[in-house]
Amino acid sequence: MPLSLMVNLPTATSTHEFGRDHLAPLLEPGDLIIASGPLGVGKTALVQGIGAGLRIEERVLSPTFVISRVHRGGRVPLVHVDAYRLGSVREIDDLDLDADLAESVTVVEWGEGLVEHLSAEHLLIELSIQPDLETRTAILTGSGPGWHQRLSAIMEL
Ligand SMILES: Nc1ncnc2c1ncn2[C@@H]1O[C@H](COP(=O)(O)OP(=O)(O)OP(=O)(O)O)[C@@H](O)[C@H]1O
Ligand SMILES: [Mg+2]
Repeated sequence: MPLSLMVNLPTATSTHEFGRDHLAPLLEPGDLIIASGPLGVGKTALVQGIGAGLRIEERVLSPTFVISRVHRGGRVPLVHVDAYRLGSVREIDDLDLDADLAESVTVVEWGEGLVEHLSAEHLLIELSIQPDLETRTAILTGSGPGWHQRLSAIMEL
């Protein structure tokens, strides 16, 4: 049974800080995170928070036009992918993400249904916009025993 956790993120700062202070400390090489949700919901904002928490100094920008970027210099390399323009598993496989997966944290925006096969375990983060247009809700669902344990740790915070 996958374990899910819901988090309210009232402002852009809350989203950044959630990535920085709650997710990043749990992340290890080999982790795969899939960030989903509509345009402008805050997927990149969350990845920027994760980058800050991994102590990556360079700016984590949206990789929309380059599809994939690797940020080094932090505790773990961060591979940031925007799959928005990719339509198939075949195109994802052409990016050769497996080459870096084992030693990096890989976060894929718009990756739902496209990248799950890259790793037996992954964390799905589904972001949605609430009626006030500022609050975001994140539903985190971990697949695999490792994520089960780590989400339980976040829940105890
Ligand atoms: N609670 C919130 N959490 C995150 N971002 C918020 C929040 N409230 C407002 N925002 C704003 O929403 C925007 C989120 O943009 P961001 O690029 O992170 O979205 P995205 O999901 O990556 O979009 P895309 O699908 O185009 O890649 C930013 O301008 C941010 O300031
Ligand atoms: Mg984005």
